[in-house]
This record gives sequence, structure tokens and C-alpha cells, in this order.
Amino acid sequence: MCGIVGYVGNRNSQNILIEGLKKLEYRGYDSAGVAVYTSEGLQVKKSKGRLANLESKLGETPLNGTIGIGHTRWATHGKPSDVNSHPHTDNSLKFSVVHNGIIENYMVLKEELAAQGHVFVSETDTEVISHLIASLYEGDIVKAVQKAVSRMKGAYALGVLTEHEPDKLVAVRLSSPLIIGVGEGENFIGSDIPAILEYTRNVYILNDGEMAVLTRDGVELMTIEGNFISRELFHVDWDIVTAEKAGYDHFMLKEIHEQPKAYRDTMGSRLDPSGKKVVLNEVGMTPQQIKAIRHVHIVACGTAYHAGLVGKSVIEKLARIPVETDVASEYRYRAPIITPETLVIVVSQSGETADTLAALREAKRCGARVLAITNVVGSSVAREADDVITTWAGPEIAVASTKAYTSQLIAFYLLGLYLAQTLGSQDDAYIAEVIAELKELPEKVERILAQSEAIKNVAEQIATHDNLFFIGRGLDYAVALEGSLKLKEISYIHSEAYAAGELKHGTLALIEEGIPVIALATQEDLFEKTVSNIKEVTARGAHVFGIHSEGHYELAKAVDEVFAIPATLPLLTPALSVVPLQLLSYYASLARGNDVDKPRNLAKSVTVE
Ligand code: G6P
Repeated sequence: MCGIVGYVGNRNSQNILIEGLKKLEYRGYDSAGVAVYTSEGLQVKKSKGRLANLESKLGETPLNGTIGIGHTRWATHGKPSDVNSHPHTDNSLKFSVVHNGIIENYMVLKEELAAQGHVFVSETDTEVISHLIASLYEGDIVKAVQKAVSRMKGAYALGVLTEHEPDKLVAVRLSSPLIIGVGEGENFIGSDIPAILEYTRNVYILNDGEMAVLTRDGVELMTIEGNFISRELFHVDWDIVTAEKAGYDHFMLKEIHEQPKAYRDTMGSRLDPSGKKVVLNEVGMTPQQIKAIRHVHIVACGTAYHAGLVGKSVIEKLARIPVETDVASEYRYRAPIITPETLVIVVSQSGETADTLAALREAKRCGARVLAITNVVGSSVAREADDVITTWAGPEIAVASTKAYTSQLIAFYLLGLYLAQTLGSQDDAYIAEVIAELKELPEKVERILAQSEAIKNVAEQIATHDNLFFIGRGLDYAVALEGSLKLKEISYIHSEAYAAGELKHGTLALIEEGIPVIALATQEDLFEKTVSNIKEVTARGAHVFGIHSEGHYELAKAVDEVFAIPATLPLLTPALSVVPLQLLSYYASLARGNDVDKPRNLAKSVTVE
């Protein structure tokens, strides 16, 4: 996600800003920029792409000054481009803002400001903030910022600089992280500790609804309503690498724990406040076009393909349209029957996977409408698709995908509901029930994460084996495939996922004394049948670890160990049942001493066929 750095002191701010932004590169970004107060006033330089592009611009014409703000942008509103990069300014070029987060009511504010004569040059929500502050400024930047944030809805961390008061840096936090670094005759802001750790280990951590006013000589903390706060300085005693992982041992574990936030962000404003419908403004298909869809093809690779298997059940159940899910590298070479009545959904975390991109192009060539589900705004897939549903999981660093996968599931639930409400294929009460259950998922994931220790114990047992099985029926089978892939990717243990009812047609021959079997039995209507399949493997000596929904405690009698996930609608269980499997892989990899975040032979983004 976006990174913010700010500096006020006596040193050249440009270098400190760039070095700070480099420390935030791990958060992921697509463009960068800085604003510095110089002898010629407030000056801004920004550039699409890597920080090196910005550095070369600054190399040609450096910005000399001792107060400035910098930003690495991870695009949300508007594609990555020079003009959409931060810092953003107002029309007088006297106010400059960097922002991390989303301003939900920016369209309303933008229209209001445009009516007052403000002219906007970018597609971003952030530009609205600089104009809003400028319009409210009456000689006191702190008051102008307070008034502006009282009008803003959403989540944000802000750094604000104005030429009118060139010794002050204003920082605000609401739901996006921001810290203040306190030095000797110099002070800093950063969206994360690594940005400032080279200069000071003394920090204030801002809480939601708080702001800070920084000058060379001090820092004042206050609420956004203007009430002063006194707070103890926090002394950082960890190193840079630990700080980037926010205290977690690995990015994968951090990302697993970020899932409740990723679910909330991906649902965000797409759930109508009435709780009765889904709002997908980014899907440009008219109701007539949706009604004309005769079949859906979901195409993706790896983990995203597994999300597509869940997506198939979701769309078929909710929208009653036939769906096929295919791996992208197979799809394009099997001459699929694509017509203008086919909706092709491509799923890709990175939006750059070569096979997926090629499938997208083939679908378009055949006249299909293409909808992309991707985590990266402005990626190739996002640019070339007709419609894009962005998953707001934030950048995923670990090669093994976790929060991107579950955010893709959330996107499928939203899409399935949207199609159902447009087609009238489900009644309003059922749609409202699914929405109500969706909203509870983040808290339910938190409850699973709180039981990580129980999963770790099982992981340490399976880490001593070389082969194991995952079994399940229906949606449990789709999740079993993802659990098995995760385990293979990072623990290097060979595993196979099998549709539980299919085991007896061949694979059962491989079940022998002591072999671990992970059995998912969360699907209400398939529970008894799954238990029968579990008995087939226990009878042959398998050691079974069962996962069930709360309420089905009788599973304990049929297996050796159990783990209960919170109860939800059967259709939504994948968004919960995959979490213990992610933890299982993580801890098994750890127990085997592997490099969890960078498994052998694999790459995060595969841009070759
Ligand atoms: C690579 C990664 C996988 C990922 C797959 C698809 O193989 O290692 O984790 O699932 O690509 O990536 P995408 O970015 O298209 O979702």
C-alpha cells in the first residue's frame, strides 16, 4: 500500500525523503513523488514507476529545502501515471498533500469544489483533499486540516505542507497507519517505522482520530477535534527487517493475519448501507447485457484458479448461470467455445500473469466480454479487461498467496450477489441473509487466527511425513485443492487433494498406516457422506485431522483430531476453512526449516508462458 514520509529539520529533505521511501518499497508501489519547500516556493516532482525514475528526475533538477513530504503510490483511484502520483496540490500550488487510504465521499466533495471553481487534473481521490484544505484555509493550516477531515469519510493517513506556513508539517491518521519520528532539531513522519529508523528510534504512534503538528523544534499531538494529547515516546529496539514485517516472523504470516482487514476493505462501500444489495459501480454491464449472458468461463492460474473453482459454485448457485473454470494455460489451446454471450472472468492477483493475459486476449478476440478480478490497479489485466473488480488485499509479498486468494473469494461473493439481484434469480431475503453473513466473516477469521497454536501442533506432526492427502466434497474439495497447493509450495511435502467420494476409485490404494489425511467436512448437506469417506481412510490406518463447522462436534468421533471453524452459510465456508490450511502450511514449512516467503523454484509473478 502507499507509503508516506515527511521531514522537517536542517538537512536536505530530498535525500531523507527518498531514503525513507526506499525503506517502504516492500509495501508495493507503482509511482512516487516528493514535494519540498524551496527558495522558489513549494515544488513537486513525481514519476510513474520505480523510485529510480523519480531519482533521475531529481538528479537533473534537485529540490533544495529542509522541509518536505514524499510518497510511494499503490494505485486505487486512477491508473498509475505521473499526474495521478502524489503529492497532490491545489490550483494555487501552495498546498501539498500525500495520502494513504481511500476517501469514500470524494466524488461529492469534488463536485462541490468544482462548482466553486477548483480545477482537477488527476483521477485521484487525494487531489480533492489538497483543494479542500486550500478552500478552508484562513491563515491557520492546523485549523484548515481539522475542518477538512471533518468533511472527509473513509480511511486515511495524511501529510500536509503549505507554502503559507513553511515551517510546519501536519500529519493526520484515521484507519491508515502513521508514526511520528522525533529527532534532535528534526522530526519525521512515516507510514511505517522503517521509513525513519535510520534517523531516530524515538517515535509516537498515532491512534485513529489523532493528528500531529511537526516543526524543527518539536511535535504537538492532538485529536482531530483539536484537544492536545500527551504521550510517552516509544523506543524502537528492533531492526529494519523486523519492522517491515510489523513484528511477524514472515510476510506470509503477516498477510494471513491481514485477511480480516482485506475482507473488510474488499467489501467496503460495495455493500449498500441498507444491507440488502451489492453496489458494483465498476461493473459497466447493463442489466440487458447481464441478462444476455448464457455461460461464464472463469480462467486463472495457481491459487487464483482455485478461487475460480469456488467462484463457479458461487455464480451457479446465486445467478443460476452455467460456469466452467479452467487453468489459463489450458484454456487458450483447447479452442474453447466462446461467443458474445460468454462472460469470461479472469482472476489474477498480480494482473500480469502471462497465461492469464493471453487467455484474456483470446476471449476478447472471440467477442466475449471480459471481467477481471485483480489486486493491482493499472495492471495489464486491469487495463485490457472490460470491467474490473479490484480486490483490496494490499500488496502481497510472500510468494504463497493467502490474503489475495481470500479477497478473490469475497469478490466472487459480491459478483454472484450482484448478478443474482440483477437477474432476480434469488429472493431479496436470501440476498440480505448472505450479505449479513458476509459482514461477519472478518470477525470469524479473527477467531480462527486466535487458535493458531492448535494448528501449529498438527503442522509439526505432518512436517515429519513425505506424503499426505486432503479430502472434501463440494466446496470443501475446492478448498482442499488450495490447501494442498499451499502445503506443496512452501513445505515441499507431497500432497494430493481428492474429491472425498472419488478416493475409493483408485487413490485409496495409497492409504496406509499412519498417513496423514486432512478432511474438510464443513458442507452441511454433504456432512454424512464425507464422514463415510473419512471412515474409508481411518479403516486403512490413516491419521485424520478433521475440519468442521461449529455445531458438528460429532466429527470428533470419526477422526483423530478436530478443528472447528465458526459456523456460516455453507456457500461462505471457503473464506473461513482455508485459513487453518494456510496456517498449517506456514507452520509445516517453518518446522522443516524452509524459506517460507521465498520457496524454491517459484516466482510471485510469472510473466512467461
Ligand atoms: C504464480 C504464483 C502463484 C499464483 C499464480 C497466479 O505461480 O507463485 O502464487 O497463484 O502465479 O498469479 P496471479 O498473479 O495471476 O494471481
